[in-house]
Amino acid sequence: MNLNAYYGDLQAVRNANIFVKKGEIVALLGANAAGKSTIVKSISGIIDRVEGEIFLNNQSIDKYTAHQRVELGIVQVPEGRQLFPFLTVKENLEMGAYTKRARGHLKENLDRVFELFPRLKERENQLASTMSGGEQQMCAIGRGLMAMPQIIILDEPTLGLAPLLIKKIFEIVEELRDLGITVLLIEQNVRQTLKIVDRAYMLSNGKIVAEGKAEELINSEKVKASYLGV
Ligand SMILES: Nc1ncnc2c1ncn2[C@@H]1O[C@H](COP(=O)(O)OP(=O)(O)OP(=O)(O)O)[C@@H](O)[C@H]1O
Ligand SMILES: [Mg+2]
Repeated sequence: MNLNAYYGDLQAVRNANIFVKKGEIVALLGANAAGKSTIVKSISGIIDRVEGEIFLNNQSIDKYTAHQRVELGIVQVPEGRQLFPFLTVKENLEMGAYTKRARGHLKENLDRVFELFPRLKERENQLASTMSGGEQQMCAIGRGLMAMPQIIILDEPTLGLAPLLIKKIFEIVEELRDLGITVLLIEQNVRQTLKIVDRAYMLSNGKIVAEGKAEELINSEKVKASYLGV
């Protein structure tokens, strides 16, 4: 990797190196404006100026467009959900299956998503804009799963949700692990995130300032002082 990303003259990410192994849940943690979404967008191929190399299964993906990266199985669930408000839940889910790879498996993937989120099945014909925040987040994750990801990148899925729903979303992330789906989880919710992930990276001002196994980070003095308010 050794990722550098820029918006005009502003450098938002500096020499960041992260990796996620197959089947792992890895968190990228950091405060507002740390550069988390910029890393996500660099991986997805929607940042204009990126230096460094990004690999999927040991193959460089730098030459691929954003669409081709989704086709390869790198699927992003963007910050703020970005659902189609005037489409129904089911239609939003179907939009996730637009890749060549996923198109032929629409029915089985829809069944899988409805099994994971019974709430979405109950509301499949409801307009996305009329769903609650938590339900919309479930729909956004479901839409991502419809693309049959090799890795799913969740950008702050718990943002703006009540504590009970935050708990629910974290449970869902753990269920994704059980389904064998590789996850890169972007969060600000450090304590709760470190309880469920395998490893994590801490990002501050565009730089990785700490990394390691979740249990090591929970006990690290630096992390405790800076992020856990201990
Ligand atoms: N399109 C853009 N044009 C110019 N600057 C941008 C753009 N997007 C992000 N930035 C800047 O890059 C820096 C990193 O932003 P980024 O969105 O990656 O942060 P983040 O860690 O995802 O924050 P948050 O938790 O608030 O989502 C910020 O200083 C931000 O203002
Ligand atoms: Mg962000």
